[in-house]
Amino acid sequence: MHHTVEVRALHYAYPDGHVALRGVDLYVAPGEKVALVGPNGAGKSTLLLHLNGILRGEGQVLVCGEPIGDGNLGRVRAAVGLVFQDPDDQLFSSTVFEDVAFGPLYMGLPEGEVHRRVQRALQAVGMTGAEDRPPYHLSGGEKKRVAIATVLAMDPEILVLDEPTAGLDPRGRRALIRLLEDLPQTMLVATHDLRMVQECFPRTVVMDEGRVVGDGPTTALLADTAFLETHGLEAP
Ligand SMILES: Nc1ncnc2c1ncn2[C@@H]1O[C@H](COP(=O)(O)OP(=O)(O)O)[C@@H](O)[C@H]1O
Ligand SMILES: [Mg+2]
Repeated sequence: MHHTVEVRALHYAYPDGHVALRGVDLYVAPGEKVALVGPNGAGKSTLLLHLNGILRGEGQVLVCGEPIGDGNLGRVRAAVGLVFQDPDDQLFSSTVFEDVAFGPLYMGLPEGEVHRRVQRALQAVGMTGAEDRPPYHLSGGEKKRVAIATVLAMDPEILVLDEPTAGLDPRGRRALIRLLEDLPQTMLVATHDLRMVQECFPRTVVMDEGRVVGDGPTTALLADTAFLETHGLEAP
């Protein structure tokens, strides 16, 4: 299995006619950790929502070499773990256990395996022991970790995260960065946190106005202050 994501000439307009993606091409190689940056409204979240078929635009999106279509949405969603920016969009059960068990149960796994996966996912995000807590009583940082655990419990080959450090305090941010560094998955992460990008992501893709306007080694991109300024970004 090649844990890759490939986007070819992707165009997308929202139902109200607003054009959010104007021909995006992107290839993420197996095991690569790629940052996706750009100003608000650049189309980052819209692009991420295409990677597991929540949105379907014009063009092609291939996951592990297979074009996403009606016939393989289940497989695609098992392969691509998508963590939304707002954990409240991901957590809807009355306990942490139920939220993290939801995916494995939905996959039809036996009860013992579901429990093993929940334990393993909570341990990975440093939330062991939180099984019985109601997600709505958790802090912002804890919610983010549990949201990531709901996705890790499905054992995805590819992780896609939308602004994982947004709204975290320094300690929560640091813990999250350590977690992302430790995870072995192929990763595409949309973020405004250019210090994190510098630290954790060897490659950066820059989007602006629905297009990819830069793609290359993070050190080179972040050193080009004129380029960053043109696209509404600030050197870290
Ligand atoms: N549900 C929606 N309906 C209409 N337009 C939307 C919707 N969601 C986002 N947009 C628009 O699409 C563009 C891209 O948005 P988004 O993908 O959220 O950008 P980013 O994540 O880079 O901030 C923006 O101009 C935004 O206003
Ligand atoms: Mg966004």
